[in-house]
Amino acid sequence: MTETNDIKKGLAGVVADVTAVSKVNPETNSLLYRGYPVQELATTQPFEAVAHLLWHGELPTDAELAELRRTEREHRALTPAVQAAIELVPLDAHPMDEVRTAVSLLGAVDLAGSGSVLDASGSPEANLERSIRLFAALPAIVAYGQRRRRGQAPVAPRDDLDYAANFLWMTFGEESDPVVIDAFNRSLVLYAEHSFNASTFTARVIASTLSDLYSAVVGAIGALKGPLHGGANEAVLHIFDEIGQASNVSDWLEEALASKRKIMGFGHRVYKRGDSRVPTMKTALDELVEHYDRPDVGELYAELESEFVARKGIYPNLDYPSGPAYNLMGFDTATFTPLFVAARVTGWTAHIMEQLAANALIRPLSEYVGPDERHIEGYVPDA
Ligand code: ACO
Repeated sequence: MTETNDIKKGLAGVVADVTAVSKVNPETNSLLYRGYPVQELATTQPFEAVAHLLWHGELPTDAELAELRRTEREHRALTPAVQAAIELVPLDAHPMDEVRTAVSLLGAVDLAGSGSVLDASGSPEANLERSIRLFAALPAIVAYGQRRRRGQAPVAPRDDLDYAANFLWMTFGEESDPVVIDAFNRSLVLYAEHSFNASTFTARVIASTLSDLYSAVVGAIGALKGPLHGGANEAVLHIFDEIGQASNVSDWLEEALASKRKIMGFGHRVYKRGDSRVPTMKTALDELVEHYDRPDVGELYAELESEFVARKGIYPNLDYPSGPAYNLMGFDTATFTPLFVAARVTGWTAHIMEQLAANALIRPLSEYVGPDERHIEGYVPDA
């Protein structure tokens, strides 16, 4: 590295653009979606209203919410093409690969006959419609993914249920308790948006080439799959399974830290003194622990948190409470990151539309550290 270039590995600390979608303030430990604190949204708003907020900048009026819900219900059902695409994915593939494939197929069907790549990025109106269709279609994709791994047929959506309740219905084939619906709705709101995280930035990079919205979302799904990002909620449950019970935490942690393992669900690139979303999700987890009468889960959670924070001073992120919460709700561990996709698609699409509204191709520079210039032996340049 030369002294002239100040390389920011991992783009840490780099402000890459402006955004009006959300504001993360690690100093005050706050996260605002379009100005509203995320805790207030998670405890008062249905996920559909938050989706509208992210796309339009304002919470919906009653009439706007009713209209969004009407459109969302229209596009809820699994189409035969998407169901067939899902069934082509091997049962032992990771569900994130299934979700990525289904979204890719949805895009190919939706954009069929739409012209050359020169028109790929689409108008703002077309992209809003695509965003709503993706938002509406993802629950059936995620729900069927879990069901088919259990050897179960898809469950048709219910028009009388709101988004979160219907998502649970399509997954489990039974109506969920209001405590569970509320906890699930909270998780969706908390996962919806988080400024220039790795998957959102990926989506913005793809959108900046004037590619289509579906391609940008497919790329974002790939970025979210990694355990340093969305894959961590799944990884937290693997850790809980490994530890087993609260009394094993000390020994387990001693060994994990000695072997330099990363403890999934802890740490954050931006928040260094705690993730602003954790307390709201932790309250939902506490309610689920009580609802399902599983004090053991609460004890293991508390023990690992207090021991790890005491030893390393690294705090839990949202994946730490949401992993055990999804487990208690009955979701399979491998379904956790697809649930994150269903929530974050709202933030991704809001960012894609924002990127396109004031686009500049995202193309950073690199510092070359390879061999000096050299030549093929015997090469004779053209005259
Ligand atoms: N377990 C153990 N040590 C950790 C952890 C952890 N979870 N997180 C950070 N550290 C340590 C690192 O080992 C490093 O120590 P060192 O300086 O002695 O080498 C130091 O803290 C700094 O960590 P980095 O990974 O360099 O910090 P960065 O800002 O790049 O990492 C990240 C953020 C990737 C989230 C990291 O904390 C991590 O890997 N956490 C576990 C995965 C996770 O939970 N991801 C979810 C992110 S939030 C979300 O997607 C909702």
